[in-house]
Amino acid sequence: MIKKTTAAITAVGGFVPEDRLTNFDLEKMVDTNDEWIRTRTGISERRILKGEGLATSDMVVPAVKLLCEKRGISPEEIDCLIVATVTPDMVFPATANIACDKMGAKNAFGFDVSAACSGFLYSLTLGASMIESGRYKKVVVCGADKMSAITDYTDRNTCVLFGDAAAAVLLEPNHDGYGIQDSLLKSDGSGVAYLHMKAGGSLKPASVETVTSKQHFAFQDGQPVFKAAVKGMADVSAELLEKNNLTGDDIAWLVPHQANLRIIDATANRMGLSKEKVMINIQKYGNTTAATIPLCLWEWESQLKKGDNIVLAAFGGGFTWGATLVKWGS
Ligand SMILES: CC(C)(COP(=O)(O)OP(=O)(O)OC[C@H]1O[C@@H](n2cnc3c(N)ncnc32)[C@H](O)[C@@H]1OP(=O)(O)O)[C@@H](O)C(=O)NCCC(=O)NCCS
Repeated sequence: MIKKTTAAITAVGGFVPEDRLTNFDLEKMVDTNDEWIRTRTGISERRILKGEGLATSDMVVPAVKLLCEKRGISPEEIDCLIVATVTPDMVFPATANIACDKMGAKNAFGFDVSAACSGFLYSLTLGASMIESGRYKKVVVCGADKMSAITDYTDRNTCVLFGDAAAAVLLEPNHDGYGIQDSLLKSDGSGVAYLHMKAGGSLKPASVETVTSKQHFAFQDGQPVFKAAVKGMADVSAELLEKNNLTGDDIAWLVPHQANLRIIDATANRMGLSKEKVMINIQKYGNTTAATIPLCLWEWESQLKKGDNIVLAAFGGGFTWGATLVKWGS
C-alpha cells in the first residue's frame, strides 16, 4: 500500500537581534509607562535590528543557516525558501531571493508572502502542499519582520507593540503521518481600514508629502483590531478542533500569534486549554508579526515530543487569520 505523504517539520531555527528596547526606554520616548504596556499588552521588551545596511534578509539568513546546521544539510540542498513578511528588504525583488543569495542556497527558488501576522501560517500551508505534491523534498518556511523599519517611535499607540525577529522551519516528506495535518485560513479585506501602511504602494507612491505626514509607518486602530482578533483567533482554533474531532485535552500545545496577551488568553480559554499548554514569549519580543509563531517553536523545541498535537493560530492585518494542526514528528 502506498502511504500518504505529509510534510513534517524536521528542523527549526531562529534569530533575534541583540539590542533590547525596554518599556523603560519607551517611557523616555513617548507618553507611556511600563505598567500600562505590561497590563494592556503583556510586553516588557522587544529586540531591534540596529546597524547600517541591515534588513529583514539579514535575520532570515542566520535563522535558516541555524536550521540547516541542526539538520546537517547545506543551504544548497534547499529546494524552495518562502519568506512571510510585511517588511521586505525592498518592494522587489523578493527578500527570499536576496536571502538565498546571501546564504548560498544556489539551487533554491524563493518568493515572499504578504499576509501580515498570519503570513507564517499561510506560507506553511503553501509549503506543506508543495511537499505533499511530491515535487519538492526540502521547503523552508520563514517568518521574518523588521517592524522597527515601519514603526513610528513618536506614536505611543503602536511603538510599544512591535519588535524585530526571524524564525524558520524545514518541511520534508514523511510517510508515517507526522507533520501538517490540517489548516483553516481566512481573510477579510474590509479590515484594511484598521491596520495598514498608507503610502509606499501603487495607491500612494512615496512623495515628500507622504514622508512628512508619516504615511510610511504602520497605522493601527487598536480597538477594532483587538475585537476582531479575539473573535477570529478563538473561533478558527475552535473550528479546527471540531473539524478534526479533537478537544482541548488532545492538544499538547497552543502556539498563538503574540500580539497581545489578552487575545492569547481568550483563545486558550475558548479551546479549554490551561496556561501551561500555551507558548508565550510576548514579554521578551513583543509582536514580531510573521516571526512570532516559528519563534515560539524554536524556543520550545526541546520540550516537544513526537506525536504531540500542536495548534498554531494567528490573526493580523488584512484582516487575515487562521489555525493549523501539526503532529510533531521529530
Ligand atoms: C493596541 C492595544 C494594546 C491598545 O489597548 P486598548 O486597551 O485597546 O487601549 P485603547 O486603544 O482603547 O486606549 C486606551 C487609552 O490608552 C491610551 N494609550 C494608548 N497607547 C498607550 C500607551 N502606549 N501608553 C499609555 N497610554 C496609551 C489611549 O490613548 C487611550 O487613552 P484615552 O482613553 O485617553 O483616549 C490593543 O487595542 C490591541 O492589542 N489591539 C490589537 C493588536 C493586534 O492584535 N494586532 C493584530 C495584529 S498586528
